[in-house]
Amino acid sequence: MEYDVKDLKLAEKGKLRMEWAGRFMPVLNSIKEKFAKDKPLQNIRIAACLHVTSETGNLMETLKVGGAHVRLTASNPLSTQDDVAAAMVKYNKIPVFSIKGEDNKTYYDHIHKALGHAPQITMDDGADLVSTIHTKRTDLLEDIIGGTEETTTGVIRLRSMARNKVLRYPIVAVNDANTKHLFDNRYGTGQSTVDGILRATNVLLAGLNFVVAGYGWCGRGVAMRARGAGAKVIITEVDPLKALEAVMDGYHVMPMSAAVKIGDIFVTLTGDKTIIGRSHFQKMKDGAIVANSGHFNVEIDIPALTALSKSKKKIRESAEEFTLRDGRKIYLLGEGRLINLAAAEGHPAMVMDMSFANQAMCVLFLAREGRRLDIKVYSVPKEIDESIARMKLETMGVRIDRLTAEQKKYLAAWEEGT
Ligand code: ADE
Repeated sequence: MEYDVKDLKLAEKGKLRMEWAGRFMPVLNSIKEKFAKDKPLQNIRIAACLHVTSETGNLMETLKVGGAHVRLTASNPLSTQDDVAAAMVKYNKIPVFSIKGEDNKTYYDHIHKALGHAPQITMDDGADLVSTIHTKRTDLLEDIIGGTEETTTGVIRLRSMARNKVLRYPIVAVNDANTKHLFDNRYGTGQSTVDGILRATNVLLAGLNFVVAGYGWCGRGVAMRARGAGAKVIITEVDPLKALEAVMDGYHVMPMSAAVKIGDIFVTLTGDKTIIGRSHFQKMKDGAIVANSGHFNVEIDIPALTALSKSKKKIRESAEEFTLRDGRKIYLLGEGRLINLAAAEGHPAMVMDMSFANQAMCVLFLAREGRRLDIKVYSVPKEIDESIARMKLETMGVRIDRLTAEQKKYLAAWEEGT
């Protein structure tokens, strides 16, 4: 079996980590039980480009017991848990190609390896598989039934491909499921981003000015958790609606050019580029800490920071100290890559349970229906989304009411009024 991981000797530790994560993934586990019985993915070839974590390990296991031939590569050079990668190879016999800290060339070599078995279904987190297939491996298109996409940034890229009529196979936007973005993006990113910043720095958040760039679901989550830790949270936005929401949620809202003068910690979660650039670094306070939790490492202009600096050194495991020409120091965390995965362990399993239950169900949907679908970006079917919400509530021991026949009739009618 082909694979490329850091060290198979790490496998035992990775296996325990997967087992621990699995304890918090009851919805995915119940899908796994069904898959083990029915084998609905028998002989389907799947290439997955996802963060290689203990939660992803549980998803890969689920697809494999469903009968699929899965190959896995990382969706970010810094997001691999090397022990988990080793465990998947050693114990699950899944070909994994990823090593934490790999350079860009190795990252893409690994993507090509994951495509080595001519996949029928692709699973992306950021659309790197889709873009590689569409630019460098168009020979694979003939066999491909469809793909899934995990994250906001990937969905934006794919919708742009569809709009420009270059997309060549249907995609299901897992990110758009309510049981995904309302929980994973908000509570998952919220907690794990703060976790990453704390592991990287061990600063006390209470009393600090904590600047969150972008008030989408991820930004909302980070702002909420930073406020909970006692920070004074400032939001920067370009969208007037989101900015207004941030104001009424009780945050200070201002442009980045004003926030840079007072911020102690900055986190970007916009999905766009150069959110913090040269002019911003020039105005930052001595000791400012800068991190990114958006998908790509383009939100912070690292070349500009480097150009403004006379020296830099690694001061902690996930923190670099840049000394600017005027003597000020700025701290960049996790090389500007997703700080929750670069310095912490990504979203907790309890929330990935729903995201990956959506992934598993959408792969099944593609295996069954994919050949009949038009080439466009689909939302997750409503029945899948709702069934995952119901299952999650059930596993949490939460019961809810059901509409009575009278209530259903009332909602469906228009006659009854004042
Ligand atoms: N994205 C964010 N957190 C993650 C995790 N724990 N596993 C896989 N993908 C993730």
